[in-house]
Amino acid sequence: MLATKSVCREERCGTETVGRRRAVPPNHVDKWGYMGSDKKGVQGYSKAQIGLHWAVVVLVAFQYVAHDGIERAWRGFTGGEAQPTEPLQTAYLHIAAGVLVFLLVLARIYLRFTRGAPPPPADEPKLLKIVAEAVHGSIYILLLLLPLSGSAAWFFAIEAAADAHEFFKTLLLAAIVLHVGGALFQHFLRRSDVLMRMFRAESAK
Ligand code: HEM
Ligand code: HEM
Repeated sequence: MLATKSVCREERCGTETVGRRRAVPPNHVDKWGYMGSDKKGVQGYSKAQIGLHWAVVVLVAFQYVAHDGIERAWRGFTGGEAQPTEPLQTAYLHIAAGVLVFLLVLARIYLRFTRGAPPPPADEPKLLKIVAEAVHGSIYILLLLLPLSGSAAWFFAIEAAADAHEFFKTLLLAAIVLHVGGALFQHFLRRSDVLMRMFRAESAK
């Protein structure tokens, strides 16, 4: 079998990688400081981080697919009805899923800063690093702003918060498209191990 040798351009690297996927070399120290977390030297995500990532993906997908109930309930309230005539169960599900996303995202951010996150591939162009960091950062911020604006609308009847909620939902969708595009681009075109590290855990916590 052919073994390809990848040479990292950074001074303290220089590790060969077997096969077609370029792994992050174990001794790689990235000067980039990817959201400040790679300084902890982890080379992959933990089971907890991966579990939280996919749990949030499922919940967010649910929020986009099943929003009819909350919209009808909201129209009922803003249309002047004290109690909307339709059942509120699906609206409550939207609220519960949204609050859960908020809590899980706080846990993710906590893990990101205590445990760390793997650095980008050693030979990643600087522009791609900037884009990846900006997209991840925006997703985290939007995943906090969405439940906050939704709660302000629902619990305090602030109409401007509902408008903000709608705006944030569009921004998040755009960020997710970029994010998933980036993950597929890394896997199929750059042939890096970035996509696979969201499936294979490095440690439990
Ligand atoms: C990550 C969490 C959340 C996401 C991704 C999300 C997403 C959405 C989406 C896609 C809509 C439909 C908007 C439209 O198509 O016009 C919506 C509406 C709404 N959401 Fe959320 N939501 C989240 C959390 C919450 C929470 C926690 C609450 C309340 C406690 C909430 C309250 C509302 C309300 C009141 C509406 C109706 C507002 C309107 O249609 O203008 N949301 N949400
Ligand atoms: C609702 C949809 C999604 C959201 C909100 C989301 C959010 C995020 C966030 C915030 C990160 C940064 C993790 C960190 O380092 O702290 C991340 C990483 C990652 N996500 Fe997603 N993601 C979503 C969907 C997906 C999908 C569908 C895929 C696969 C096609 C994916 C693949 C990845 C990969 C591979 C990473 C690791 C990137 C790296 O190590 O540089 N994500 N995701």
